[in-house]
Amino acid sequence: MAISKRVCVVLVAILLVSQRFASAEELPTVERASFPKDFVFGTATAAYQYEGAATEGGKGLSIWDTFTHRPGVIAGNTTGDIAVDQYHRYAEDLWLLKDLNMDAYRFSISWSRIFPKGVGEVNWEGVKYYDMLIKHLLELNIEPYITLYHWDMPQALEDSIGGWLSPDIVDAFTRYARFCFERWGPRVKYWITFNEIHSFANAGYSSGEHAPGRCTPPKCSAGNSNTEPYIVSHHALLSHAHTVDMYRKEFKDAQKGVIGITTDCTWYTPLNSSSNSDQRAAQEAIEGFLGWYLDPIFFGDYPASMRASLGSNLPTFTPKQVELIKGSQDFVGINHYSSMYATFNETNGEIIKTGYKDGVPIGGVVIYLTSTYKINW
Ligand SMILES: *[C@@H]1O[C@H](CO)[C@@H](O)[C@H](O)[C@H]1NC(C)=O
Ligand SMILES: *[C@@H]1O[C@H](CO)[C@@H](O)[C@H](O)[C@H]1NC(C)=O
Ligand SMILES: *[C@@H]1O[C@H](CO)[C@@H](O)[C@H](O)[C@H]1NC(C)=O
Repeated sequence: MAISKRVCVVLVAILLVSQRFASAEELPTVERASFPKDFVFGTATAAYQYEGAATEGGKGLSIWDTFTHRPGVIAGNTTGDIAVDQYHRYAEDLWLLKDLNMDAYRFSISWSRIFPKGVGEVNWEGVKYYDMLIKHLLELNIEPYITLYHWDMPQALEDSIGGWLSPDIVDAFTRYARFCFERWGPRVKYWITFNEIHSFANAGYSSGEHAPGRCTPPKCSAGNSNTEPYIVSHHALLSHAHTVDMYRKEFKDAQKGVIGITTDCTWYTPLNSSSNSDQRAAQEAIEGFLGWYLDPIFFGDYPASMRASLGSNLPTFTPKQVELIKGSQDFVGINHYSSMYATFNETNGEIIKTGYKDGVPIGGVVIYLTSTYKINW
């Protein structure tokens, strides 16, 4: 499929998580014809949540395999060992996508299925799975969109260097990305380096609720909730920047694809829209969520409000890194789940984020929406 130069290509997946409509009349009438002709409908998945076959076909363990197998960590002690078994049932899954009349399928590659140790030896059986998945997609005329990292760090790299905590991860990630571009770039034209750095940086290193389950002791056995989310994000952003640079210099001309990043963002709106203070709270809340990732990518540095509140806990970019990261996007993906109100706590000056105003929820429906916006392709 030729990439449209004229019109923004938008990938949207909508999942109604809960419906709180009072009656059917309140449902908006939206149909395919309501959208522009070249609007791209698709669905999106993550390798760990879909593939299953956690220890099959030569795959190495990822931090999510290890994390979910810790007793008592996940509700009901469930794991993604089998998940929806896409590794075995992808042909059937893709027919379902076709049946839904989808134009695109966004999926992530399991790094440790390709490189069981994260670097070094390639697991060709794992490579073959993605070869087949992509072949089937193209045969069905469904456009593949690949996410390189959707939270499943190879356990071997977590053990050897500490995963995202180490600056050495940048080189390991770039090598993995190079393999993916070489192997699938001739057929795959849409690349997403990361899905939601914010999620794994916070849930993995601040609350400890996601792999690798780190936070300040005693809640977690090891970690530092005040510093690690920023270090981890910094190394992920640098990995993104180096990967995009490599793609542009070595692959883009021949492969004619585009590359970007997907972030999530809760939208914040002032609790009291006519209060200057609440307006500032909402602005700073957005900067601390979306700006954390997009400000470096668009402007070359973290938002000033983050620097002011975090000081030296927020890493810095060298002039060379600024040059590399600034403009490192052909498009930006936004996963939006919901919005919240923001106001300042007058006692401690912290931002209070709430889904309610005078006891009334901010919205009636929880919609998961992921959109990909063209920036400069
Ligand atoms: C999960 O594992 C923990 C620890 O082994 C155990 O105490 C708990 O009963 C298990 N829960 C379920 C639902 O099996
Ligand atoms: C909202 O803010 C304005 C401006 O500060 C103030 O006059 C008004 O009383 C506030 N409203 C509420 C409900 O607090
Ligand atoms: C505001 O800050 C104070 C002092 O840290 C804290 O006790 C209180 O719970 C906070 N209020 C809210 C609504 O978060």
